[in-house]
Amino acid sequence: MSKENVLEIRDLHSSFFTDSGVVRAVNGVDLVIPQGKIIGLVGESGCGKSMTAKSVMGLLRYPGRIESGSIRFMDKELVGLPDKELRKLCGNEMSMIFQEPMTSLNPVLRVGRQVEEAILVHGKAEKRAEAKKLVLDMFEHVGIPEGEKRYSCYPHELSGGLRQRVMIAMAMVCRPRLLIADEPTTALDVTIEAQILQLMQKECRESGMSILLITHNLGVVAEICDFVYVMYAGRIVESGSVCEIFDHPAHPYTRGLLHSMPVIGGDQEYLYAIPGAVPNLLRLGAGCAFCGRCEKAQDRCREEMPELKAVGEDHFSRCFLHETEG
Ligand SMILES: Nc1ncnc2c1ncn2[C@@H]1O[C@H](COP(=O)(O)OP(=O)(O)OP(=O)(O)O)[C@@H](O)[C@H]1O
Ligand SMILES: [Mg+2]
Repeated sequence: MSKENVLEIRDLHSSFFTDSGVVRAVNGVDLVIPQGKIIGLVGESGCGKSMTAKSVMGLLRYPGRIESGSIRFMDKELVGLPDKELRKLCGNEMSMIFQEPMTSLNPVLRVGRQVEEAILVHGKAEKRAEAKKLVLDMFEHVGIPEGEKRYSCYPHELSGGLRQRVMIAMAMVCRPRLLIADEPTTALDVTIEAQILQLMQKECRESGMSILLITHNLGVVAEICDFVYVMYAGRIVESGSVCEIFDHPAHPYTRGLLHSMPVIGGDQEYLYAIPGAVPNLLRLGAGCAFCGRCEKAQDRCREEMPELKAVGEDHFSRCFLHETEG
């Protein structure tokens, strides 16, 4: 494992074993997160983004589990790590922010206390007073005004933006090396979204924290990510630097995603959408999972799975087209 990488996921397979069959939600994913970088993970709903994140955090629950592969965090292999050791890492050296803060905050505990607990559980402070000071410092850091007053609020007494800031404070208070943010701003309005993204960016620059940012929003990716992974039906179909992906998208799926981005001043009534829908992960064929929606699909695409191939500097795509397009 390279010293500069905080996380390395290799050939990860995570599935749900349901009565109707095996749902291959993560189907051979490779993904690397270097130190101090913001890495985007994008793709339509149901393509396996959250399952990838939950696999890293050890949050997969029955009937889902990691089948095979490797997840290295710093110098530790997480696949097969006993729960107790994983719990020590989670919330401490790595933490996660979820889409809907209301479901992740305890509704009957004051928010300040919840953040304080994270500090005490991970031994970052011994006394409550000391922990409270850290909480108030963190509140100020993430832009929660009147910290002392907010400290005593219950989650429902705060606006959506403030609740998400509390979640971010909780996720960052132990100074993690890796933050996984799963759609952290989807529930927020655009000005608050911009503030939260700026805050995460600042944290990366100042403390060397790395972020895996999961989002549907390619505009957000363009703004703050260094590198992007595009996921489709459980697989990475394209990866590259933000410049490469936005200036020279290679995979027809990525091109479709970019094409369906709203343009400022554009005609929003006729927004393009990729035709068709994500295939049923229970019934994936042998070929490329995108072939049913791809206007350039050939017979071969239905029969064989293309490999991820280099199409530029540090830019990879999983498509047979590149062999003919050159
Ligand atoms: N408990 C479950 N049992 C069976 N299948 C599941 C279960 N939870 C999730 N899945 C399936 O796993 C696949 C991946 O889901 P995942 O939540 O990772 O998607 P996602 O990319 O995060 O989507 P979204 O953008 O909507 O959050 C989906 O097809 C989903 O149907
Ligand atoms: Mg998700």
